[in-house]
Amino acid sequence: MCEKKGVLVAIEGIDGTGKTTLAEKLKSWLESRGFKAAIVKEPGNSIWGRKIRESYSENMDAMEELELFLKDRAVDVKENILPKLCEGYVVLMDRYYYSNMAYQGARGIDMHEIRGINENIAPEPDMVILLDCDPELCLRRIENRGKRNRFESLKYLKKVRQNFLDIAREDEKVKVVDASRSEEEVFEEAKKLLNHLLRKSKE
Ligand code: TYD
Repeated sequence: MCEKKGVLVAIEGIDGTGKTTLAEKLKSWLESRGFKAAIVKEPGNSIWGRKIRESYSENMDAMEELELFLKDRAVDVKENILPKLCEGYVVLMDRYYYSNMAYQGARGIDMHEIRGINENIAPEPDMVILLDCDPELCLRRIENRGKRNRFESLKYLKKVRQNFLDIAREDEKVKVVDASRSEEEVFEEAKKLLNHLLRKSKE
């Protein structure tokens, strides 16, 4: 594998915070400024990622669920993330292993352990944009998406949000952005954060 030349940014947050919209806006903005940019979405398209999606309405053992996300991520790293970073892309992750820590952590698995396993198989991000929003507001936003998946219950998302905020407190790479505001305001703040990071990575 080549040396990492690109920049890796993870966009994280509970369901309904606007990760996908923000990733798309940032990608266009980066391209308009002459950067090569790519979005990589997790869960991905590996057989494991597809298995995760097929299981959205079932109950699944927490360890089995963690395993599936890890296997899917390992494929994603090899096939998408590392090749793009080698080619000098700014890679925008629409969810990454911080979701693994927060969501599977909320099912009782130790978050530090989840981080450790992930950091053995996946490159650490240069920055994490954590879109933070009250779960009730987020669930209202995604109501029109149709049937909720098993991750999208209020009680569960409250725990997941708290886990994300706990992670942010001890990890300076995580920048908390208030996602209860308008898409435009969130985009403006994310651009500032990214600008700062890109300037630093050129030094
Ligand atoms: P989501 O971003 O909603 O994907 P899609 O739009 O394809 O359904 O992700 C699906 C769910 O997966 C989401 O509710 C959070 C969960 N998830 C985890 O529990 N752990 C993880 O490591 C990742 C990446 C996602």
